[in-house]
Amino acid sequence: MDLFVVRGGKPLKGRVTVSGSKNAALPIMAAALAAEGTSIIHGVPELMDVATLCELLRTLGAVVHRLPDGALSITVASEEPCVAHYDLVRRMRASVCVLGPLLARRGRVCLSLPGGCNIGDRPIDLHLKGLRALGAQVHVEKGYVIAECRRLVGSKIFLGGPFGSTVTGTCNIMSAAVLAEGITEIEAAACEPEVVDLGNFLIALGAKIDGLGTPFLRIEGVEKLTGAEHRIIPDRIEAATLMIAAAITAGDVELENVRIDHLTAVIEKLQEIGVQIERSIRSNSVTVKAGGSLNAADCIALPYPGLPTDVQAQFMTLLTLSQGMSVVTDKVFPDRFMHAAELVRLGAHIRREGPSAIISGVPELSGACVMASDLRASAALVLAGLAAKGESVIRRIYHLDRGYERLEDKLRQLGGDIQRLNDTADQLTAAAIEPHYVSDVPTQESWLTGPNWLTWKRTRASLRPLAPEGREDQE
Ligand code: EPU
Repeated sequence: MDLFVVRGGKPLKGRVTVSGSKNAALPIMAAALAAEGTSIIHGVPELMDVATLCELLRTLGAVVHRLPDGALSITVASEEPCVAHYDLVRRMRASVCVLGPLLARRGRVCLSLPGGCNIGDRPIDLHLKGLRALGAQVHVEKGYVIAECRRLVGSKIFLGGPFGSTVTGTCNIMSAAVLAEGITEIEAAACEPEVVDLGNFLIALGAKIDGLGTPFLRIEGVEKLTGAEHRIIPDRIEAATLMIAAAITAGDVELENVRIDHLTAVIEKLQEIGVQIERSIRSNSVTVKAGGSLNAADCIALPYPGLPTDVQAQFMTLLTLSQGMSVVTDKVFPDRFMHAAELVRLGAHIRREGPSAIISGVPELSGACVMASDLRASAALVLAGLAAKGESVIRRIYHLDRGYERLEDKLRQLGGDIQRLNDTADQLTAAAIEPHYVSDVPTQESWLTGPNWLTWKRTRASLRPLAPEGREDQE
């Protein structure tokens, strides 16, 4: 398992390009199953989650490969398979995105029911409600959702839930309704840019959809869809993470390949905190500068166009170093706070108060060993490490590899001191181990005269894990 060693305190400076959006790419790749022929998708980031979905699509009869220019080619070669197995679905919840396209096109789908995960309850009741409204027979058996239909039939569907709409639920119902007979009207559809991007891909395949980007979608079903070419939107969450990296290190960074209109809430919140932002709509870029002190601010994560839940953890990290008291609340995933306890290990003052975290800013963080619990928590800990005094070790960064394309390369390109190591004795330096892994640290001298591997191995084996074992079923 890999870990990061981050030496903090270096202001990030320079220019970096944001990758294509993970959360747009996944439902778009899944939707290619609903089309005949080949779809060519540009800007699909190279990530573990993308690799997992490629594997799943192959088991479902698709031929998937990268073209020399990096675009992803997906050709539906066989329409026989209809089972999305536990082994792949448990590795990535977004596998659920194949449900709608498969059902609409093949009339039957068996999908391993995604379980719980570290960011909170993740039911898919709204997905199933939508498919039932389109006329599918849906039941759960032996851990699998089994959905069947002749041809789906257009209907009126309300997709609002206790925490707002559902992003992948809207993707699923939209990808199914485009092949249904007649008109489907979706109310309380998710308005996230990733849903709009999927809608534009479906339109390129031949679908008829009105109202993208609003809570009301009107879809006129068509007989068939045909493969098409599409470019994925830039990843607004990666952009926001890099903007906060610039802010938290008092840096000066220009981000290229940014959709500024997708980042309004993030930019406004950063400005409130005291970060300078220059936008260039013409060149799709944004420059982030910070220098002076940062202000406390209240952040509420909400469905789009609100502040995204996927940057809640990163904002919390920034606020740990802001002057005064901040309150962070997540209205989308009210329990998404596992990063808070790890930030406290770095010296942050954070107290959980029901659905909120109260942060009292501190003048500095100090390097420590921390454990990533999910994708965005990993990013938050990397940001904290970049700002902290001294060295931090961030373990379980496989979470980060699922959703950020070459993040450490990009941070290094900006001057960040971040190193990937394998979590094995022979790769770790004594410096990395000594303060972080060993609970009962021997004298400084014994470590400084050379790594005492035997002692280290014995001590390490006896250590209690710092956090519960990471689960694989994360977004
Ligand atoms: N919900 C229900 N019932 C449902 C579906 C969702 O009650 O049937 C609830 C959820 O429990 C949650 C809220 O509704 O409280 C929103 O969940 P949503 O369905 O919108 O989340 P998702 O589609 O499973 C996507 C992203 C997440 C992102 C959320 C919210 C993908 C692949 N995943 O998940 O991304 O946090 O929307 O914006 O698009 C990430 O990238 O780190 C990540 C977790």
